[in-house]
Amino acid sequence: MASIDDLDIRPLWEGFGVEVLGVDLATADAATQDEVVEVFHRHGAMVIRDQSLTPEQQLTFTRRFGEPETNPGAQFTIPGLQEVYIISNKVVDGKVIGNWEAGQGWHTDASYRERPTMCTMLYALEVPPEGSDTLLSDLCAAYNALTEDEKAAYDGLQIQHSFRALREMQGRKSAYGEEDLDDVVHPMIRTHPADGRKALWVSTGTVKGVIGMPNPEGLDLIERLVAFATEPRFVHAHKWRVGDLLIWDNRCTLHRGTKFDLDKYVRHVHRTWVKGDRPV
Ligand code: OGA
Ligand code: MN
Repeated sequence: MASIDDLDIRPLWEGFGVEVLGVDLATADAATQDEVVEVFHRHGAMVIRDQSLTPEQQLTFTRRFGEPETNPGAQFTIPGLQEVYIISNKVVDGKVIGNWEAGQGWHTDASYRERPTMCTMLYALEVPPEGSDTLLSDLCAAYNALTEDEKAAYDGLQIQHSFRALREMQGRKSAYGEEDLDDVVHPMIRTHPADGRKALWVSTGTVKGVIGMPNPEGLDLIERLVAFATEPRFVHAHKWRVGDLLIWDNRCTLHRGTKFDLDKYVRHVHRTWVKGDRPV
């Protein structure tokens, strides 16, 4: 059984993210798993390499981070395991078995909830040899790069996030299940509970404006800040290998998927989500 001494943790990108080697999550002891969780909270993103996880084992590991989300009524989950969502263009018996275009624009997961998803775990069972990178932007680095005047101006602003806006834009109810949620308001500058670091917590797709600021100014401001936060200097591309478990922290990152040749390649990924706290 892997123990804490076997953990090999390295920086993944400069100043952001870690790569974890030397651990088999299917058999790792509790202390090792908890150390992995602890490290995760301080680095924004983590790639744990060379895993071989059943959906049940992924869910068991997910529970060490907190309470899994259940994807109520969503079409593409593992039968009997509502918490494990299937991102896939794989065809079985003439039918696509997953949602193959999860998250193409810059976003942070489920920001339309009162308690948005804390972290997202994607486990790669099959990946294309080219394309389909997952891009992550470091919103703490973006915040730190603002001028003092900008920090002061944005601190205290609040953004309206909307589930209905997202569903209307995407027009695919089945991907979201039967839920219907009222709009919520979250701070633009978000403080990370682990160590107090601040993030420029903007997004696209779910946002309807800035509270107290008329549109289009409000939406223009958000759009400008997303463009800033996703400048190449803040963005890291994860190139997938089979067996990767990629975990990102939605409290301090934006992410998006990228395209690949759907006719040529299969991308088959299992996703779990951990419930978060109300942003502050
Ligand atoms: C998601 C998502 C991107 C990807 O599952 O929330 O945005 O690369 N996925 O699959
Ligand atoms: Mn997403």
